[in-house]
Amino acid sequence: MNLFNIENKIILVTGSCGVLGGGIAKYLLENNATVILLHYKEAPLLETINTFKKISNKVAGYVCNVVEEKSLQEVASKIMDTYGKIDILINAAGGNKPGATVGPNQSVFDVDVEQFKQVVDLNLFGSIIPSLVFGKQMAKNKKGAIINLSSMAADRAITRIMGYSASKAAIDNFTKWMSVELAQKYGDGMRVNAVAPGFFIGNQNRALLTNDDGSYTDRGNTIIKNTPMNRFGEADELNGAIHYLCSEASKFVTGIVIPVDGGFSAFSGV
Ligand SMILES: NC(=O)c1ccc[n+]([C@@H]2O[C@H](COP(=O)([O-])OP(=O)(O)OC[C@H]3O[C@@H](n4cnc5c(N)ncnc54)[C@H](O)[C@@H]3O)[C@@H](O)[C@H]2O)c1
Repeated sequence: MNLFNIENKIILVTGSCGVLGGGIAKYLLENNATVILLHYKEAPLLETINTFKKISNKVAGYVCNVVEEKSLQEVASKIMDTYGKIDILINAAGGNKPGATVGPNQSVFDVDVEQFKQVVDLNLFGSIIPSLVFGKQMAKNKKGAIINLSSMAADRAITRIMGYSASKAAIDNFTKWMSVELAQKYGDGMRVNAVAPGFFIGNQNRALLTNDDGSYTDRGNTIIKNTPMNRFGEADELNGAIHYLCSEASKFVTGIVIPVDGGFSAFSGV
């Protein structure tokens, strides 16, 4: 038996037009899974589907917003009608807002509470609501896996990104809580885990980490100094952990957060 065979899996990916979600979706298609892209804007979704069709015809997509329960429920019924099951949900939609961040010449007292709430809404409820809606379908078969995207910001204070850090810390807790709930109530076929990427250049953090000429900002350099492997991650370096968590190779693994971080979380900085 090939423990890593995922070719019969129906895998949903939110944030699938983003840097990490898009990379994950592409990799899963290359490994013969059926991948359903979820995105809240039609034009980029169609563009991504067309690009991925060159890799595999097992790609499909639906427009839905991860913070709108009704929109997710409509998509869940369409997916169940078409495929009859959902094996895996990868919650890769997420993001930050300038107002929820402490700017270079600001302090915590300048943080915009409304924008803070919007960041929590997207990063926390944007994973919780899809987990409830699609997880309910998995629970009917007592089989399924949910994978959340945590962050290095969940565990220790990373300056400036206050709202984002609070929501990712809550994601770690939600991952553990939901893993216990689903295993206890629906059995050992239901798993919930997370990956915590270190620093990858994405759309959200590009301006914080790199200058227009491609050199690193002071913050970018500080991160590199605190990453023993001495570099940022490449999006495809998440694929191994994701593949493991999607596959039968991790069938007794639930409630964990796997750091993929070049050693950042292990290092004291000294
Ligand atoms: N890039 C990194 O270094 C890094 C590090 C740690 C964690 N993460 C996390 O990984 C995940 C993906 O990050 P990324 O770098 O690919 O970001 P990204 O901005 O490239 O992708 C996020 C995607 O989510 C989509 N999205 C935003 N709001 C949405 C909504 N309401 N409904 C549906 N989709 C919505 C965006 O349009 C975008 O396509 C995020 O949760 C992020 O916090 C990223």
